[in-house]
Amino acid sequence: MIDLTSQLTSKNKFLVFGGGFSGDYFAKSIRKKGCIALTSSRSVNNDPQSFVFDSEKNELPKDSIFEGVTHILSCIPPDKNGRDPVLKSLKNKIINLPIKWIGYLSTTGVYGNTYGNWVSEEDLPNPFQERSQRRLNCEKEWINSNLPIQIFRLPGIYGPGRSTLESIKNKKIKVIHKENQIFSRIHVADIANAIIYLIQNKSKLDFHPIINIADDEPCSQIEVIRYGYKLLGLKMPKIILFEEAKKDLSPIAQSFWIENRRVSNKLLCEKLGYKLIYKNYKEGLNNCLVSIK
Ligand SMILES: NC(=O)c1ccc[n+]([C@@H]2O[C@H](COP(=O)([O-])OP(=O)(O)OC[C@H]3O[C@@H](n4cnc5c(N)ncnc54)[C@H](OP(=O)(O)O)[C@@H]3O)[C@@H](O)[C@H]2O)c1
Repeated sequence: MIDLTSQLTSKNKFLVFGGGFSGDYFAKSIRKKGCIALTSSRSVNNDPQSFVFDSEKNELPKDSIFEGVTHILSCIPPDKNGRDPVLKSLKNKIINLPIKWIGYLSTTGVYGNTYGNWVSEEDLPNPFQERSQRRLNCEKEWINSNLPIQIFRLPGIYGPGRSTLESIKNKKIKVIHKENQIFSRIHVADIANAIIYLIQNKSKLDFHPIINIADDEPCSQIEVIRYGYKLLGLKMPKIILFEEAKKDLSPIAQSFWIENRRVSNKLLCEKLGYKLIYKNYKEGLNNCLVSIK
């Protein structure tokens, strides 16, 4: 059997646009496979593996950054007009490079409200929120770009340093309950690992331009919060019902409670054979506990 892991070597150079939570985790993971990975930031820093890119200020990477690039991952949200920042600023540069693969982190928000029902890649997008319409527009820009694009639709991302545990510790959490409300989630390590799995096994798997990366067990927010308090050994405060809580929520916080969907990972985990590291929030939060201060 061919060792497909050998396909990723120091000959592969990844540019990760948007070295935030997921982008940075991905870069660290792909470096462990022996690849070069540079991440973008909007501000100058001391990290030699970081470069500056700011589409709003038109601060573009130097030509040398693109030398030898084989793969790109974009983790930057749409701009206020629904344009993709990377394509808007760099498409003319990228189309002239010998790129093997480009990944784009999108959101499952493009599916809109499914009233708690399962939704898969076979369902047509039906964005409800304006930000999801902007996102769908970016997906279309990438699909129409003639670049070798693969889009990953993600639900709520959490992981070490950014999870319910930090929200509880920093007292930033509101213990809100809404009847029958379900959220899907994904641990940041599974985003990186699933993408690496798909790149490594590209030659033997069917190609799918759009793939959900979500865990196996969508569930209510209150379930996750309850487990978080248990892990931290703290007493959970009184539950506030959504109808009562919503008057104190910001419009953006309220908007997350309007949509209710269970995101299917069957394409990734059954058809394409990816094995989740953290199949549910309990396993994921147990991992996050290790890094909690
Ligand atoms: N967070 C979630 O739960 C969630 C769920 C589903 C999908 N998503 C989407 O998945 C992607 C990754 O999410 P994340 O939470 O890991 O992202 P994140 O931590 O918020 O990082 C976003 C990155 O984009 C960069 N960026 C933003 N605007 C930019 C611009 N105009 N020009 C250049 N760079 C810009 C930021 O630069 P700086 O480093 O300089 O700030 C940052 O590195 C995002 O598109 C996000 O919208 C997020």
